[in-house]
Amino acid sequence: METFEIRLSGEGENRSAALPIVHGTLGPSAVDITRLPRETGVFTYDPGFVATASCKSAITYIDGDAGVLLYRGYPIEQLARHSTFLEVAYLLMHGELPSRQQLAEFEREVAIHTMIHESLKNFLNGFHYDAHPMAMLCGVIASLSAFYHYKLDVHDPVQRKLAAIRLIAKMPTIAAACYRYSIGWPIAYPRNNLDYCTRFLHMMFEVPAEPLQLPPIAAKALDLLFILHADHEQNASTSTVRLVGSTGANPYACVAAGIAALWGPAHGGANEAVLRMLMEIGDPKNVAQAVARAKDKKSGFRLMGFGHRVYKNYDPRAAIIREMTHEVLGALGVSDPLLEVALALEEVALKDEYFIERKLYPNVDFYSGIIYKALGIPTEMFTVMFAIARTAGWVAHWLEQQTDPELKIGRPRQIYTGAASRDYVPLDQR
Ligand code: CMC
Repeated sequence: METFEIRLSGEGENRSAALPIVHGTLGPSAVDITRLPRETGVFTYDPGFVATASCKSAITYIDGDAGVLLYRGYPIEQLARHSTFLEVAYLLMHGELPSRQQLAEFEREVAIHTMIHESLKNFLNGFHYDAHPMAMLCGVIASLSAFYHYKLDVHDPVQRKLAAIRLIAKMPTIAAACYRYSIGWPIAYPRNNLDYCTRFLHMMFEVPAEPLQLPPIAAKALDLLFILHADHEQNASTSTVRLVGSTGANPYACVAAGIAALWGPAHGGANEAVLRMLMEIGDPKNVAQAVARAKDKKSGFRLMGFGHRVYKNYDPRAAIIREMTHEVLGALGVSDPLLEVALALEEVALKDEYFIERKLYPNVDFYSGIIYKALGIPTEMFTVMFAIARTAGWVAHWLEQQTDPELKIGRPRQIYTGAASRDYVPLDQR
């Protein structure tokens, strides 16, 4: 057996272990350290999980150096060109592309679960009119667990699948409801004769007073963005879903935790932050100054939509979105000066030694906001859009985890740096 020898050196020290190597289908191998504490008395220390694989997964593969992304083995470029979001959701969940009949059945299953319980709407009324939609989404999805708790047995594969479908189906309904509540419009019911993205756009923008005319490119563009955001292996939000899932918690609560993790500007919140940054820069002539600020550590400013923990090359999703931005804006007849700012920013940053040295390239969030904006999606809703798409990945990972024979409760250790044991001092003696 191939092993990794580890030996603690130092005076009188003679502890060692031969640790097994774990191989996947693609990508680097890993040292299985589970025996390390028992055999040597030491743990490993890896803040931010920079060098740690937390699980085995057959869903998504990333080669960060080559800029490769595969869902169940299929390159993202091929899926983006030929597939649809619901077909990709099926693929992520089931491991194989559906037949025509399987896809039709899946689309129907999703469609019949799009409605929400009328009393769920009461939760929205508790929010102030200016609540951020991510806060609302997180709260309302968590409260779904109250509707499906006592009868939900996470050990039953049929019920697990139903929960996954309900999440994919209801997420757009709830997302649109959060938006409409914030602008004082009546909540819209889903129209199940429409495809997933058209249905969502209708729930967002249709008013009872008149029919909605959507440009054909709108649903197509949204569907493509959803495909690109559907999964990204063990990112912070998916890892959160898995961590919560490892305790046996209700899947709706697991996904609500994932939404909370996604909201941060270092993760999915970056798409909103990118647009705000581009608006602040305002003009290509201010780009050099912004790049200089991003290089100055004291400024606390980073180029949002730049850099990635795994990609040390152009994010393949950003390359597709960049192309698509021109097509969508052209088809909609929109000319957005922010696109000029974004293109100039990318050009300057990619030629700059700081960004070259650190391998910082545009990521998925860099151009997506410009498309959302052109589709009329308000800036605060950008991360909600990401959450709708990433639900496909979250549920696929949760389903995979629940049948993982190596599943254990996620419980990291720590290096304690606090006070050593000491005696309590009574209040009048301090
Ligand atoms: N602008 C300026 N400098 C940067 C940036 C940036 N956007 N990103 C990383 N750096 C620098 C960082 O200061 C550090 O420099 P040094 O080596 O001199 O200390 C170096 O690059 C490595 O950065 P890091 O923070 O150690 O890298 P990380 O892997 O921990 O963080 C990241 C990855 C995505 C959080 C980070 O690149 C970042 O904050 N980017 C901006 C936010 C963003 O766009 N997030 C979306 C990520 S992709 C979609 C998603 O996950 O949802």
